[in-house]
Amino acid sequence: MGAPISGVAYPIESRHPGWPAKLGPLRVPAGILDVRPVRLRDAGEWSRVRLRDREHLEMWEPTGVGPWPDRNAFWSWPSQWLALRGLARRGQCLPFTITVDGHFAGQITVGNVIRASLRSAWIGYWVSSDIVRGGVATGAVALVTDHVFNFGGLHRLEATVRPENTPSLRVLAKAGYRQEGLFERYLDVAGGWRDHFCYAVTKEETGDGLVSRLVAKGLAERV
Ligand SMILES: CC(C)(COP(=O)(O)OP(=O)(O)OC[C@H]1O[C@@H](n2cnc3c(N)ncnc32)[C@H](O)[C@@H]1OP(=O)(O)O)[C@@H](O)C(=O)NCCC(=O)NCCS
Repeated sequence: MGAPISGVAYPIESRHPGWPAKLGPLRVPAGILDVRPVRLRDAGEWSRVRLRDREHLEMWEPTGVGPWPDRNAFWSWPSQWLALRGLARRGQCLPFTITVDGHFAGQITVGNVIRASLRSAWIGYWVSSDIVRGGVATGAVALVTDHVFNFGGLHRLEATVRPENTPSLRVLAKAGYRQEGLFERYLDVAGGWRDHFCYAVTKEETGDGLVSRLVAKGLAERV
């Protein structure tokens, strides 16, 4: 907590509370799940998985500039990593890598962090196609949500999902997010303006935490 400033009614926090952090481990059906900050040396695995998984990922991701093979080449990671690290250092983003049994398995990011009296952000994620349906995304969403509410100074997280993205809608429902509404023509995804459902959760709703709930339901185990 920083020194109080006269006339400011909210707590002055460090610029990047809750960052950097390692979250987990958690046992999920796919294996042992950990979440840790993105690293420069993720380049090789990040690129290998994303080049292979174009069909699995592209239709759900924001429209990018340039062809998929270029945007996801080994050499394009350092600039993305640097940009993410810069945003994280300024307290605007928490960019995490997901690992399963110690291997790169995807990314989960908290972005557009707004503080002051909103204290809100979005959460986004993707998981390697070879370990889907193993509870990885659900576990990662629960770990990160608990973390930003308990240590990141945030009060609300929002996730936007295309209505066609059944697996992601299921992830949010299992993790404990609730649907708030439909944003029409909300995001430029896969080359067009796509409707998205808005899901959200606030700190008050999480009780003992989303991870504890998953554990109580037998969907994950603390190790
Ligand atoms: C969405 C995504 C992150 C889910 O990751 P995951 O690790 O498989 O998620 P989980 O295993 O925790 O849960 C997935 C749920 O969706 C269900 N599911 C998966 N494919 C499905 C399908 N085609 N139809 C219906 N349900 C499906 C799974 O059965 C599971 O639910 P269950 O536990 O009740 O059986 C992953 O599929 C992905 O990376 N997709 C591409 C990128 C993306 O969509 N990102 C999110 C953008 S909002």
